[in-house]
Formats: sequence, structure tokens, C-alpha cells
Amino acid sequence: MSRVFACSATELPDGEALRLETSPVIALFNVGGEFYAINDRCSHGNASMSEGYLEDDATVECPLHAARFCLTTGRALCLPATDPLPTFAVCEEN
Ligand code: FES
Repeated sequence: MSRVFACSATELPDGEALRLETSPVIALFNVGGEFYAINDRCSHGNASMSEGYLEDDATVECPLHAARFCLTTGRALCLPATDPLPTFAVCEEN
């Protein structure tokens, strides 16, 4: 995947998410000033992870069936999801 400009860091406050209309669609999160990017579509079904519930431990809960994913590794942490989500490198510049 090529590099894409997501936003200015000030445009994504702590605890918020942004859906990037890239291919694949990416969910970008700010957790305590750390930025994480994962595939936006849940590995279990058709839910947007950018609409999920973000936790302080850098995990996100799917808004549809409550599977939880690690934002660092993409690993599914609980059922009903078993497959991980792809993660993407985030680069802050300037
Ligand atoms: Fe995400 Fe079912 S669609 S857990």
C-alpha cells in the first residue's frame, strides 16, 4: 500500500476515530496521543471499526457484535471474531 495523508494530528483528538476512504478502507484512532490504523471492516461481518468503542488499552470493540481487537497487532481478542484485522503503519511528520 502506498502512503496516504490522513489528517493533521490536531484534527483527530484523543479518543476519536477517523474513517479513511482508501482501498482498503482504514480506521485511524488516537489513543492517548498514539495513532493506530487498522482495516475498517470487521473480520466477522460488515461493521465499520471506526464506529466502534475505543478503550484506553488500545483496543476497539466492534459496534455490531462486540468482538474486541488489539489496535497494535490487529488480533481478535474475543468472540465472535476469530480472524485478525490488518494493521497499517502510521507515520507522523513535522
Ligand atoms: Fe464485528 Fe460481528 S461484525 S463482531
